[in-house]
Amino acid sequence: MFKFNFNKTDENEEKQEEIKEPDPPITLKESKCIEVSSNQYEEIAESLPEKSLQMFSSNDLEIGFVDNININEMNDTDLISGVYEGGYKIWECTQDLVDYFTEDPERIDFAGKVVCDLGCSAGIAGLLALIKNAKAVHFQDYNEEVLDSFTIPNVILYCEENEKSENFSRCSFFSGDWDSFSELTTNDEKYDIILTSETIYNPSYYKKLLNFFKNRLKDDGQVFVAAKSHYFGVGGNVLDFCKLLKEDGTFQSEVVWKSSIGLQREILLLKRR
Ligand SMILES: C[S@@+](CC[C@H](N)C(=O)[O-])C[C@H]1O[C@@H](n2cnc3c(N)ncnc32)[C@H](O)[C@@H]1O
Repeated sequence: MFKFNFNKTDENEEKQEEIKEPDPPITLKESKCIEVSSNQYEEIAESLPEKSLQMFSSNDLEIGFVDNININEMNDTDLISGVYEGGYKIWECTQDLVDYFTEDPERIDFAGKVVCDLGCSAGIAGLLALIKNAKAVHFQDYNEEVLDSFTIPNVILYCEENEKSENFSRCSFFSGDWDSFSELTTNDEKYDIILTSETIYNPSYYKKLLNFFKNRLKDDGQVFVAAKSHYFGVGGNVLDFCKLLKEDGTFQSEVVWKSSIGLQREILLLKRR
């Protein structure tokens, strides 16, 4: 029996993030696939009733997730480039992205699709794809510990809550840098849909993201990028990212959603030209 706390995502209020540059500079983490054996699955499933759980709500969708507050001290730490990239919380634009899909089911069809939740943290966007019958979902986060203690338990929580443990076999988990993730999965089937939220905060990541989309998206695939229009203090912004897309010429981009209140946020849809 699982007990959830509802509507607590507001507590993840954005403070102004600061990216710290590690000193000395570090080597980026290599990507690897995190395998979850059936014993590990069972162990995690058995531990869930003891955990404090929260509920992510979007229109008529509810997705449970484990309370990450006490998981790791990194939870409240600023982003440290190449060390910790913010995966221990659910960022505001994940709510925008999921709301965008749940408001109007015509906006996307996940059924039978191969989907990547790129920079997944809790894995909420990927879980939406799984719930909507995606054929396969790849959950990627830079930090292996985020996948181990946050993403994977959340996916198992969904499977257990809904008595759909067989759905877990449709999920794969990858840690490490986007460049290396792209290489690691180069022989895998390409993605029909890439979902990515709050990943353009650092301008030095634009090219990595663009290369990932170029290498890993099917010819008729779609990329949804949910982001704040400006990441004050850290430099990332939608306009500059779109400028790079335009210069590169591989993708056409369209703003499919914009916030009307609060901090300006957007959702971009990218398709190959
Ligand atoms: C700010 S968090 C956003 C998390 C989540 N998408 C959300 O909206 O709640 C940025 C995400 O991008 C991933 N990330 C950032 N830089 C990365 C890199 N160079 N390679 C791989 N993943 C990276 C982080 O692990 C993290 O999951």
